[in-house]
Amino acid sequence: MNLPQETRYRAYSDWSKEEIAKINENVNQSPWHASYHIEPRTGLLNDPNGFSFFNGKYNLFYQNWPFGAAHGLKEWIHTESDDLVHFYVTGAELRPDTEHDSHGAYSGSAYEVDGKLFLFYTGNVRDKKWIRDTLQIGAWMDKDHNITKCENILIHKPADVTEHFRDPQIFNYKGQLYTIVGAQNLEKSGFIKVYKATDNNVETWEEVGNLDFGSTGSEYMIECPNLLFVDEKPVIIYCPQGLDKSELNYDNIYPNTFKICQSFDTENIKLVGASEIQNLDYGFEAYATQGFNTPDGRTLIVSWIGLPDIDYPTDKYNYQGAMSLVKELSIKDGKLYQYPVEAITSLRASSEQFTAKAETNNTYELELTFPPNQKSELLLFSDSKGNGLSLIVDTKEGKIILDRSKAGIQYATDFGTIRECSIDTKETTANIFVDNSIIEIFINKGEKVFTSRVFPENHQNGIQIKSGEPTGKYFELKYQNGSKIN
Ligand code: FRU
Repeated sequence: MNLPQETRYRAYSDWSKEEIAKINENVNQSPWHASYHIEPRTGLLNDPNGFSFFNGKYNLFYQNWPFGAAHGLKEWIHTESDDLVHFYVTGAELRPDTEHDSHGAYSGSAYEVDGKLFLFYTGNVRDKKWIRDTLQIGAWMDKDHNITKCENILIHKPADVTEHFRDPQIFNYKGQLYTIVGAQNLEKSGFIKVYKATDNNVETWEEVGNLDFGSTGSEYMIECPNLLFVDEKPVIIYCPQGLDKSELNYDNIYPNTFKICQSFDTENIKLVGASEIQNLDYGFEAYATQGFNTPDGRTLIVSWIGLPDIDYPTDKYNYQGAMSLVKELSIKDGKLYQYPVEAITSLRASSEQFTAKAETNNTYELELTFPPNQKSELLLFSDSKGNGLSLIVDTKEGKIILDRSKAGIQYATDFGTIRECSIDTKETTANIFVDNSIIEIFINKGEKVFTSRVFPENHQNGIQIKSGEPTGKYFELKYQNGSKIN
């Protein structure tokens, strides 16, 4: 939603109780609230931030401008979870309230050091002429969720980057702490800077070079880079804005991509044996994916179900965006798989054989098998007039096609209404998670993923089988005790 700059950058303390109450009331009017995904309490949710394990719990913050569905003066909102499925807002917030983050506490990551969680993030700063500076800064969160900011700037903008320099991701590689930062060079190409913590002190960083991962630089900026390790193999996940489509086919305004690599050569700051660039997700919206390696050896990621610079049907209710389910990464036969964590099955409240249904509560999981040599088509969020979200699983031609041209309220149609990807021509499975206005589809247990929003109108809550003979289960999903997630 387009709001004037002075509204978007109004100080938090300037918003009156009445104005905030009105925003809250409006958010509550929406018919599209998710039941088991994180949504903003109010305003716009974008990137996952500070995803980490600390104090015996999983910690996940989200970027938020709390006063409406627009990108304004951003803060981080803290949530925590025991099981990576049920998340609770704790009340801790990383506010843009110092001269180093005066125009936004932008994205970043977190890492536990000696019983405290270190938050490493970008301070967005503008001067009176609205000229931007971008600083990598830090804060500490203790076990009681008190947040104390570091006084010093931890990484200044280097000479070879423009004002686009952000989203530090901290990680430990073989006992050394590193951080990578998304950047734009003076020729306006995207790249990634690498730093290491001097003596592993997270408040002192030295530049070690630019990451060599076989990128061409056709993008103008790389946002939200993450270097993760899956069975010791480096996987670099990033958002190359403006990437040339001859390099990778994508339809969303900006892609979220990855490369699987063979090793991390810390001498030469190189990801050795980097694969081709690939789409992380084939749906209409998944962006700014953030991950971390857990103390028990898993690799977890979570994505923003939303995209920059897009208006959504929820905007009129003063909110926008949601967080994806937490997905665990694995590599099989050289392919990256992403699949919700095991605890997601705890949401299954009832189970029945899969059949067409005139009505559902749009809060369910389908676990389906599609036979080989067959074109199957399902219509989800369907009504009696033939509207709905069409999902074609074609095991004859080897294709998945998701068509939302007849699904609910239309938006972002400039970027097309169909998304597709290829699959092998053999029996194929799909786990499909529907949550009122969110759908996450995991083909072959996460070999291909489609994450999307759908904003159904009244009575668009059926499941129709238009062709083919998929078989499987329908699970109604219930968030524990119906408690609110956000
Ligand atoms: C990605 C992004 C980040 C930035 C944040 C600001 O969506 O643009 O690069 O830190 O959002 O909210």
